[in-house]
Amino acid sequence: MSKSKIIITGGCGYIGSHTAVALQQAGFEVVIIDNLINSQENVLTRISEITGFKPQFEKVDCTNPISMKDIFAKNNDAVGVIHFAALKAVGESVAQPIKYYKNNINSLLNVLESMIEFKIPNLVFSSSACVYGEPEKLPVTEQTPLQPATSPYGATKVMGENIIKDTIRAHPELNATLLRYFNPIGAHPSGKIGELPNGIPNNLMPYITQTAAGIRDKLSIFGNDYSTPDGYCIRDYIDVNDVADAHIAAIQYMIKNKPGIETFNLGTGRGLSVIELIKAFESANNIKLNYIIAERRPGDVPELWANANLANQKLGWKAKRSLEDTLKSAWQWQKNVSDLK
Ligand code: NAD
Ligand code: UFG
Repeated sequence: MSKSKIIITGGCGYIGSHTAVALQQAGFEVVIIDNLINSQENVLTRISEITGFKPQFEKVDCTNPISMKDIFAKNNDAVGVIHFAALKAVGESVAQPIKYYKNNINSLLNVLESMIEFKIPNLVFSSSACVYGEPEKLPVTEQTPLQPATSPYGATKVMGENIIKDTIRAHPELNATLLRYFNPIGAHPSGKIGELPNGIPNNLMPYITQTAAGIRDKLSIFGNDYSTPDGYCIRDYIDVNDVADAHIAAIQYMIKNKPGIETFNLGTGRGLSVIELIKAFESANNIKLNYIIAERRPGDVPELWANANLANQKLGWKAKRSLEDTLKSAWQWQKNVSDLK
């Protein structure tokens, strides 16, 4: 029997590469579309070292409608599309909003148009916990009201969700799952794939590992005077491999149930403060981190964590990796990066 095929946009990136591995290991055939704007082609070799299969690769910009249609025409037997491709640096999106709207919105529109034209029925969309802004009540459920986006990047996620909802309404033959990721961290246990930020990292986890590796002098903690129990910001840090698994559950759920549109939080249900994460990293890896307390970072919400019960009930999915293993994998990956680059 031939394998069910999934098209993954942005499949060379951080979450996409882990999802490609998980899909192949679950018996799917994977086609990756990526323009490598924030990733490297040698990820494909590393995926095949883990799974034994090299995905079909199309080096294409998803904002190009003609190339996208060519690829979808060639792969019109695909059962689904997972759309990761997007630019994701919040600060850069404030400085260059048009670049973000153009890239993230046009890519999504092309994906949807091609899905309709070539009758590919199932879409998974990478949304973000940032759609909740600063919520009144925690943890947030999928029913928690959304807040206006605080950055053009965040706006592309809110708009993306709305564009998909409108499209599903007009095209009942399509299904879509909106996955709102909280804070994905960690790397594949093989040490062969992980997060590869360009330049100075914006996010906490790669900043921690680069500081531990001596690439950065010290970590700046952005504020310790928040109205949280210990004064530090709280987030829901989730293992990237758990995030990857949820995509498979979402695809399988859509194939079986044809649900129209569904939305799920992907978190652990556990909030950790910045200092708690740092201490856990130090203890998991037996390392001392050099850090200072700095000013608050504009735009940061004090606390955000998920109620992920809905994904558990409907998808049968739950975050299952331990924090300790996740933090060990992040450090192992950091140590491997220089060899792999
Ligand atoms: P990433 O930058 O590692 O991966 C994105 C991939 O998409 C990259 O390989 C990049 O080259 C590619 N890409 C970007 N624009 C493209 C285009 N126009 N055409 C083709 N390829 C393109 O990011 P990630 O962390 O893996 O994030 C994946 C998705 O998840 C993104 O949509 C992101 O917004 C979303 N998300 C990420 C986080 C997080 O913390 N990592 C949190 C919430 C949501
Ligand atoms: N932080 C530091 N120092 C750093 C980096 C971060 O103290 O050098 C703190 C931040 O202030 C925040 C926490 O660590 O309190 C997490 O920050 P990240 O930048 O790692 O993550 P965010 O929660 O700000 O944002 C991430 C993604 C967004 C996504 C959002 C959803 O970057 O794309 O999660 O919650 F929208």
